[in-house]
Amino acid sequence: MKLVLLGAPGAGKGTQAVRIAKNQGIPHISTGDIFRKNLKEETPVGLTAKAYLAKGQLVPDGVVVEIVRLRLLEDDCKNGFLLDGFPRTLAQAEALKAIAAPDAVINLDADLDALAKRLSGRRVCGGCGESYHVDLGSPEVCTKCGGAVIQREDDKAETVAARLLVYKAETAPLIDFYRAEGLLVNIDGMQDIDAVSAAIRQALRRL
Ligand code: AP5
Ligand code: MG
Ligand code: ZN
Repeated sequence: MKLVLLGAPGAGKGTQAVRIAKNQGIPHISTGDIFRKNLKEETPVGLTAKAYLAKGQLVPDGVVVEIVRLRLLEDDCKNGFLLDGFPRTLAQAEALKAIAAPDAVINLDADLDALAKRLSGRRVCGGCGESYHVDLGSPEVCTKCGGAVIQREDDKAETVAARLLVYKAETAPLIDFYRAEGLLVNIDGMQDIDAVSAAIRQALRRL
């Protein structure tokens, strides 16, 4: 199945994507993770993306689309994929349609005012990318891989505010776009993590 996970910063895309990918046996492709990995390794893509990530702005469409296009050509995407954080603009959505049209788009519907709190309390594993939250008892060492648990650079208050504004202006219109395409599956992202997962599994079974 070719799936897209749509949602505001902090809506729970990464958290749910790991579970969906495992359940469906498809690769989890997060453009944000790809940029952070490139940044860490100081590749040309990482250097291009650096300033955008730091400001909470979007990396230019051409750069992102090319990365996704190449990633979707890899062998493990033959039986489907789960995109997390892509598309984020109408131009990216149109590009994806031409490359590999999705079968369904899961929108994690969240209250934007609550997300700043989720993001400022988020901690992530520098090794495997697992997400934690200080309110849910974030460990210092990852329980999955033993890596150090750190705060993401762009989870500082000023950058979080910028990311939410960019989401409203650029990405939220994709909800209507995919509704019009008949692909939208809306899920209440404000329930607890397990309830969100259960709702997604149920919705996918009905497809
Ligand atoms: P990206 O990495 O995609 O960041 P984002 O969209 O801001 O999303 P997040 O990863 O912050 O949130 P999430 O929805 O994954 O939430 P999570 O599951 O972690 O992108 C980063 C940057 O890269 C962008 O700003 C941009 O610069 C660039 N970029 C990436 N893709 C791009 C593209 N296509 N085009 C252009 N530029 C691009 O959960 C958040 C927290 O909440 C965690 O602590 C978690 O434990 C907790 N939580 C999750 N679910 C729940 C729940 N149900 N209840 C309570 N707490 C919860
Ligand atoms: Mg994420
Ligand atoms: Zn880890």
